[in-house]
Amino acid sequence: MDKNLSNIIYKARKTHSLAKNEIVDLLSTDSINCELFDEADKVREENVGNSVHLRGLIEFSNICKQNCLYCGLRRDNLNIERYRLEPQTIIDFAEKAKSYGYKTVVLQSGEDDYFTVDKLQYIIKNIKALDLAVTLSIGEKSREEYAAFKAAGADRYLLRIETTDKELYRALNPGMSFENRVRCLKDLKDLGYEVGTGCLIGLPNQTNESLAEDILFFKDLDADMIGVGPFIPNADTPLGDESGGTFEKSLKVMAITRLLLPDANIPATTAMETLNKNGRIIALKSGANVVMPNVTEGEYRRLYALYPGKICINDTPAHCRNCITGKVTGIGRTISEGFGFRPKKR
Ligand code: 5AD
Ligand code: SF4
Ligand code: FES
Repeated sequence: MDKNLSNIIYKARKTHSLAKNEIVDLLSTDSINCELFDEADKVREENVGNSVHLRGLIEFSNICKQNCLYCGLRRDNLNIERYRLEPQTIIDFAEKAKSYGYKTVVLQSGEDDYFTVDKLQYIIKNIKALDLAVTLSIGEKSREEYAAFKAAGADRYLLRIETTDKELYRALNPGMSFENRVRCLKDLKDLGYEVGTGCLIGLPNQTNESLAEDILFFKDLDADMIGVGPFIPNADTPLGDESGGTFEKSLKVMAITRLLLPDANIPATTAMETLNKNGRIIALKSGANVVMPNVTEGEYRRLYALYPGKICINDTPAHCRNCITGKVTGIGRTISEGFGFRPKKR
């Protein structure tokens, strides 16, 4: 065992802070992976305990006006059948999610302007009336729009920064700006949302230095939730022939994130399970404390094709709920009965 690397992990565990070069050192070798994953698991247990928060994911529209090069929902992809759920259907799905015991629903979509502030307020209010926490994941909006969703009762917002490497960001997200994305995250914080962000791992030309910057960005923002996952090349996009991210590297970024943000909510992401059939359980044992099972019904799961090989596309919400309970309890963890807000001492 490399003593220097062990010292870095020890320092992270004690102080929850690291310099960029120390993060790069951890990312640049696999010799300390086991120790890193074990320490992240301990930090998770000490700070957020043994219960796992489940969030029911409703993918309500795969229509997107943006054109991110990595994503299957990009507007130039003519190979997917597009759909959007009507507000009442979304509310019905939320009601079902509640009946399966979920305490939070995550409403996710492409950037679809059909869903005006009025429509979203109607949806949010009706779901809040079910006594569920509501997380939105619907992209970049104005501060006024974010404020309106908050006023309607939205509790949390997920908006991955995707990469903090500005050059990479510019190349992969045409027509979008890094500065505006950061503005969105700051506005969301300011408005009192619990804010989630995260990044893709294994983007073309992404370096360990840039991944280290991503982790420091999460820390700097003091993100309440951080979801990271491998970039999985999609043949219907311009990046279809790239090699993509690995499971191990994604797990490492996630574990280091746990060391630096001890009380954040960190999901074991679906993309990780796509690359490793036991991926979410391994992630839960390496720093994660959240899982977001899909509660979208019917063929919509298949159509929400961000990347190929997405898990659970032929499963029902009931099946996924049972499946995940079995997996979580199988490793001696429990399913949380609360809303699962960040337990931060503010
Ligand atoms: N592989 C993995 N994740 C992807 N996302 C989009 N395209 C891909 C892909 N090809 C992620 C983005 C986005 C989230 C909803 O899905 O990080 O924020
Ligand atoms: Fe649209 Fe999000 Fe996909 Fe970009 S990553 S194309 S904004 S759904
Ligand atoms: Fe969907 Fe296991 S979570 S089948």
